[in-house]
Amino acid sequence: MIFVKEKRSQIAITGANGFVGRNIRKFLSHNKMSVISLTRNKHMPLKYETNIRYSDLDQKNLIPKLKNCYALVHLIGQGIQSVDATYDDVNVELTKKIVKLCQNAKIRKIVYISGFGVNQSTTFGYFISKFEAEQEIIRSGLDYTILRASYIVGNNDPLTKNLNKQIKRGTIIIPGSGSYRLQPISVNDVTKTILASIANKQFSNKIVDLVGPQTITFENFVKKFAKKQTKIKKIDLEEAYRTALNQPKNAIYGLDDLNILVGDFVGNHKKLEQLCGFKLTPLKEIL
Ligand SMILES: NC(=O)c1ccc[n+]([C@@H]2O[C@H](COP(=O)([O-])OP(=O)(O)OC[C@H]3O[C@@H](n4cnc5c(N)ncnc54)[C@H](OP(=O)(O)O)[C@@H]3O)[C@@H](O)[C@H]2O)c1
Repeated sequence: MIFVKEKRSQIAITGANGFVGRNIRKFLSHNKMSVISLTRNKHMPLKYETNIRYSDLDQKNLIPKLKNCYALVHLIGQGIQSVDATYDDVNVELTKKIVKLCQNAKIRKIVYISGFGVNQSTTFGYFISKFEAEQEIIRSGLDYTILRASYIVGNNDPLTKNLNKQIKRGTIIIPGSGSYRLQPISVNDVTKTILASIANKQFSNKIVDLVGPQTITFENFVKKFAKKQTKIKKIDLEEAYRTALNQPKNAIYGLDDLNILVGDFVGNHKKLEQLCGFKLTPLKEIL
């Protein structure tokens, strides 16, 4: 590992109270690695963790606290926007602030989780903001690893939470045919990949697809979750989009949830396995 020989051996994490954040904190703490988590709300820190609550990413206040950090894992992000918090505000502007913070605190490495399918010709809001955030990071001069993640699955992940909510109501809704595919990756593989990105030179200044080893149609994914008594109902895709647009509070799938689902984004996991040097968890063990 390159960074354990460094004077600075701590790892900072933003968005540390979120799904990936909770899992990476647990994983690093389990491996006795010292973590500084930056969050908007305080939480009970784990054994090797210091939790810092911030309100506005105030540089002066934060820089001295990050003086022993070698890397920062940037997990702040949002997949649905509102007037109060647009994609630009959260995904782009906060990334600019985090990049500045890394530069000023002399943090060498940044790891960012972008979206699988993001590219220069992206046309929808969430992916455009992720692309712009990626560009900020690439231009920063920091050593970066951008992980373009497909659905990350684990205990209480956002997609499973959504499906479980629907199961409680008795019916899972499938927008359109459900024949579009996902390539879920285990959150445990994601945490291991984040650490590998920090520790191994092969991940330096790279964009890597964070996809699982198998694809599955959304319909089959849903069937794996459904209980015996759960009904599965397909609704017209246009209807799903209309609700997402006009009644976002009642929508089961947000506008960009739908864009990502029907986008049918699938890729090759081999490069990730090669870089990481471990086999990704098979789908049947994830679901
Ligand atoms: N989960 C997936 O399947 C998936 C797939 C592709 C990409 N990603 C990306 O991976 C990253 C982590 O995902 P996740 O599933 O852990 O997301 P999450 O559970 O929604 O957590 C995101 C974190 O972002 C922070 N955040 C959100 N809005 C903010 C705001 N206005 N100001 C400051 N902080 C804000 C929060 O940090 P606090 O801890 O301070 O509350 C929150 O914990 C995100 O960038 C996401 O877009 C996730």
